[in-house]
Amino acid sequence: MSDNHDRLVDPEKQTDDRLDPALRPQRLRDLIGQDAVRENLEILIQAAKGRGEPLDHVLFYGPPGLGKTTLAHILANEMGVSIKVTAGPAIERQGDLAAILTNLREGDILFIDEVHRLGRAVEEILYPAMEDYALDIIIGKGPGARSLRLKLPRFSIIGATTRLALVTAPLRARFGAVYRLNYYEIGAMEQIVRRAAGSLGVEAEESGIQEIARRARGTPRVALRLLRRVRDFSQVRAEGVITAPVAGEALNLLEVDPLGLDQMDRRVLRAIIEKYNGGPVGLNTIAASVSEESDTIEEVVEPYLLQLGFLERTSQGRIATQKAWEHLGIEFPKGRQGQLI
Ligand SMILES: Nc1ncnc2c1ncn2[C@@H]1O[C@H](COP(=O)(O)OP(=O)(O)O)[C@@H](O)[C@H]1O
Ligand SMILES: [Mg+2]
Repeated sequence: MSDNHDRLVDPEKQTDDRLDPALRPQRLRDLIGQDAVRENLEILIQAAKGRGEPLDHVLFYGPPGLGKTTLAHILANEMGVSIKVTAGPAIERQGDLAAILTNLREGDILFIDEVHRLGRAVEEILYPAMEDYALDIIIGKGPGARSLRLKLPRFSIIGATTRLALVTAPLRARFGAVYRLNYYEIGAMEQIVRRAAGSLGVEAEESGIQEIARRARGTPRVALRLLRRVRDFSQVRAEGVITAPVAGEALNLLEVDPLGLDQMDRRVLRAIIEKYNGGPVGLNTIAASVSEESDTIEEVVEPYLLQLGFLERTSQGRIATQKAWEHLGIEFPKGRQGQLI
């Protein structure tokens, strides 16, 4: 399909999260960054505990790799309950969800990743389950069919999505708390890299840590992956110590530039600039010209380019900003200034 799966900075690639479960924060107090979300969650947890009730249903949204899954597990740890993990596309039929729900115990958390990908029929079962802890099942077929209402234990759903706009309004309305995860500040990124280097037993100078943090596009998953690659490089080429030049050289070799952009990001920007004179150009046209799926571009490539201010979304399509032209070293056409947006 695409070469996206080999992207070093691909924030969606989760394969190596599993390698270092020790790196995953377990409790809210271990969490670095996302201060606003953490504070809100502290209140949510204390309030639920104080009332002796299960946690409210919680929805996390934001780009991949920022900690949605991590937070779901942290909430289970803080509440002292079990967590069952599933994902929207994995629940195909109503019966699949019914089986999961009836197996939950009081207070348990059901984590549904990619909650925007639940089928409509499955979602309909979820509404009464979330609202009234009730499961409506239909027995039989045709005129003789009857509906039966089962009582469920009081549980909590934690949903995660990279695409809030694709979560249906009725489902969204049933989450008592909705939190957006943002890209991490540079200070938090440095702390994450520093701590991970410590846990991995890698020797790193402060300036080396900063270099990795700066190129990790505000995304912990990317930071951890870059750290591993830089560790390899430093071990083979530089006596095992991560200094700024070592990190810089390693990341240049991997074609991750000083702002964390990789080949894919640059290809997208180049297509907009070189083929469409900077835009506006539609998402599908961009996708076709870089041979990539538009979903991938929208979910994985665009959010960071928007964050950097390299891209603007308008009703006519995407526009590459002057900053983007300059970053790629392409001269911005005279007279275009002020014409954008
Ligand atoms: N605040 C954080 N501090 C340290 N590590 C983090 C933090 N958030 C996420 N991580 C790490 O980043 C990786 C991706 O996090 P994850 O929760 O799987 O992201 P998401 O579910 O949003 O895609 C994991 O390895 C996790 O341990
Ligand atoms: Mg996740």
